[in-house]
Amino acid sequence: MNNIYEATKLIGDTYSEQIKNQSPEVIKYLVHKLKHTFGVSYEIMNIFYAEKDLYSSFSDTEKELVELSGILHDLGRFYQHSDGHILDNHIFNHGKYAVDLLSKIERFNNPILLFAIESHNGLAINYDNPFYKQLSEQDKYTAMQIAKLLRDADKLENIKFFIYNGMPALVADNDKGTLSDSVKEALKNHKQVDYKIIQTKSDRVTNGLSWINDIYFDSTKKIIKDIGFIEKGIQVAKLYGATEQDCEFLKEVLVI
Ligand SMILES: [Fe+2]
Repeated sequence: MNNIYEATKLIGDTYSEQIKNQSPEVIKYLVHKLKHTFGVSYEIMNIFYAEKDLYSSFSDTEKELVELSGILHDLGRFYQHSDGHILDNHIFNHGKYAVDLLSKIERFNNPILLFAIESHNGLAINYDNPFYKQLSEQDKYTAMQIAKLLRDADKLENIKFFIYNGMPALVADNDKGTLSDSVKEALKNHKQVDYKIIQTKSDRVTNGLSWINDIYFDSTKKIIKDIGFIEKGIQVAKLYGATEQDCEFLKEVLVI
């Protein structure tokens, strides 16, 4: 049987099963995650084919792993709920959850694939990951590239969603306010802002904007630039409490 077909079927079946008799909150979340999954599957192949050197160095089996990582990366998201509510990322690691499930399915029990999926939702790629450490030097290169492609595709899909659907959904949980010092510090160092240090709505918007500091491929960078993500994001940060000075600071440090 075809691995791509089986992966798509696994996502479809899991979605259908998990959405049964659910609360409106969970249904909305699962529908969003299903759309996101297909969006990431599309973006990852676009980035991959745009990076010609990478594309030409991969075997057909490796190309299939790129596609599988896009389709399967958020399998854990479909389980991220309990009693009709969505579980917080602090208590439910959906990347790890997906890996635990996939490692029990023979066709998906591939250390390159599992490493890429486990690495997609942390603040940075963890090269101490046991799946990565067991690989040959050649496979380490492949695994690293797929992990990077997946992180780029995941962010790009989210960025497009925010551009086309508006950023306010991002900031629902925080109070309006100026940019916090700890957030500014992370940006000065061109780091991705850790969501744990977010205090205000403008911090939350800036956290999204700081994703640009964790983009690996030129073709992804170009799309993010062309789409006007940074400019639009700064406008939204202003709407949610960033001062004129904060916005000037953001313009200076957010460079892709
Ligand atoms: Fe994810």
